[in-house]
Order: sequence, then C-alpha cells, then structure tokens
Amino acid sequence: MACHLAIGWRGRQLLALGIAALLLFIGSAWLPETRLQDCSAFWPCMSLYNTAVDGSLNPEAGSPVSSVGSSQPIPQCPDQRFQMSRVVREFTDAVTEDQDVLLEHYLSGWEELVKFMEALGSVLGFISQDVTGKIGVVRELALGGSDRASGDAYRTLRSMIRMELARGIVNFRVKTASGCRTVLVLNRALKWLELFLEKLGRDKRRSPSELCREAYLQALARHHSWLMQRAAELAFLAVPERPEFLHIVCARDERGVARVLGSALPAIGRVYNLTRDTLAEHNMLNLP
Ligand SMILES: *[C@@H]1O[C@H](CO)[C@@H](O)[C@H](O)[C@H]1NC(C)=O
Repeated sequence: MACHLAIGWRGRQLLALGIAALLLFIGSAWLPETRLQDCSAFWPCMSLYNTAVDGSLNPEAGSPVSSVGSSQPIPQCPDQRFQMSRVVREFTDAVTEDQDVLLEHYLSGWEELVKFMEALGSVLGFISQDVTGKIGVVRELALGGSDRASGDAYRTLRSMIRMELARGIVNFRVKTASGCRTVLVLNRALKWLELFLEKLGRDKRRSPSELCREAYLQALARHHSWLMQRAAELAFLAVPERPEFLHIVCARDERGVARVLGSALPAIGRVYNLTRDTLAEHNMLNLP
C-alpha cells in the first residue's frame, strides 16, 4: 500500500508513526461510541466541520453513475476476495416485500464490504475490525443463547425493534449494546461507504483519499470525538489511488466502474434508506 505523499522517506516514517499512535485511539472505538457531549475535559468538544449530507461539494462533478447500465450484472472477479456482486445480492435479498430488513442478509452484505475496506489497505482494514465486532454483536444476539424466542426476534429489523422495545433492552438515555443501537451505528458507517462510492463514481479527478475523507465528514464525523476525527483523517491519507480502486472493484476501465457502481449504489442506498427510516419510525436515530 503506497502512501502517495510528496515528502521524503524520513517524513513518511514520522507520519506513519504518528498514524500508528493515533490509530491506537481509534481502535475499537471507530464507530460512534462517544457523543460530543461526552468528551473529556482534555479534548475539545467540537466538530470543526459543519457537515450536511447534501452532496453540494462537487460543483464540477459529472453525470451520476446510476444512469449507466444499472441493469447489467456485475462480472465475477476470480482472483479477489472482495466481490461487489455479493454485496449487491445480499443487500437486495435483505429487503423484503413488506419493507422489512432481513438482518442475516444485511450483515452478510456488510461482511463483504468489510473485505472492500480491507482491500483498500491496512489502515482502513484496521478500522474495519470494529465493524466486524459490531456485526458479531448482532449475530450473538440472534443466536440468543438459551432463549430461542429472543433469538428468532433478530430475524428482521422490525421484529428486533419490537422485541427489544417490549423487553426494555433499548435505552434512550444510556449507552447499551442493544441490537437497535448496533444496527444504527453500522448503518451510519454504511452511509459513509455509500457516499464514498458515489463520489468515486462521479469524480474521477480527485484522489480517492480526498473523496473518502469528504464522505467521512458528511456521514460520520459529527458522531465522533474531535480526536477520532483527526485520527481518521490521517488514516485516509493512506487510501490508495484510483487505479488500485479500479482493480479492487474489478473494473478494467471507467465504463466498468460505472457499471459496477450503477448496480451497487442503488442496492446499498435502498437497504440504507429502509433501515434508517425504520429506525426513525421509532425515534431511534439518536440512540446514545
Ligand atoms: C434514499 O433516500 C434519499 C432521501 O433521503 C433519496 O434521495 C434517495 O433516492 C433514496 N435512495 C434509494 C436508493 O432509494
């Protein structure tokens, strides 16, 4: 994984050391664990960015990718672990006819996206470990221990919400490891990846590193402490350049990228939207 910075080797070493130190802070706390109000006295409780998911940051952006070949299947990528076609299949299967989300498929789709993050390089791979942890939390709940009835309740998003509300597992004031809160946190991170992919499709000139950072500022930064925001920004410096991205999504050229994203983005967007809207119906978008 190359770090494309115009600085000397010594500088890079220092930078890498700095990143490594800061990553210790990100660690398992990558996904929003800390609300800004909870910051300690040592770290400024502020967000340097007023972020809004309005996509207005790309005045020079080209045409949206979703108009291109969205009906064509994504080719298989024989020599790679990550397959965007699997993301599409799982997320498509996750949405039921009566507008519910099948959690097993949602988590499987996420697992494939974790491979995408790992392919982007060890720095994002490091971050993805926490996503994997969150996926594990919901899977554990679904196994339900000796309690079969509660395990079954984790089949869909709506049944999980009903059961956790009925049993008082969701807490609106204190942080808990409820399934609802865990899915909320995962879904916020899904928005980050969705925005990142959308920007990669629209903007071929700017570096993926910059686009990744911009997506982060729009989707996740406001849920993170000041320190974690700085650490994340350092980590994004190591996101590889566009040719490497093409390789990861198995596209030979820009038309290939448009085809892959034209199929992936609607599938991701649909399951993200449905999950967010369902949580919103129960006022769960701001669980601590
Ligand atoms: C998701 O919801 C947003 C509005 O919040 C909408 O603009 C977008 O088209 C929706 N995406 C999909 C794939 O349904």
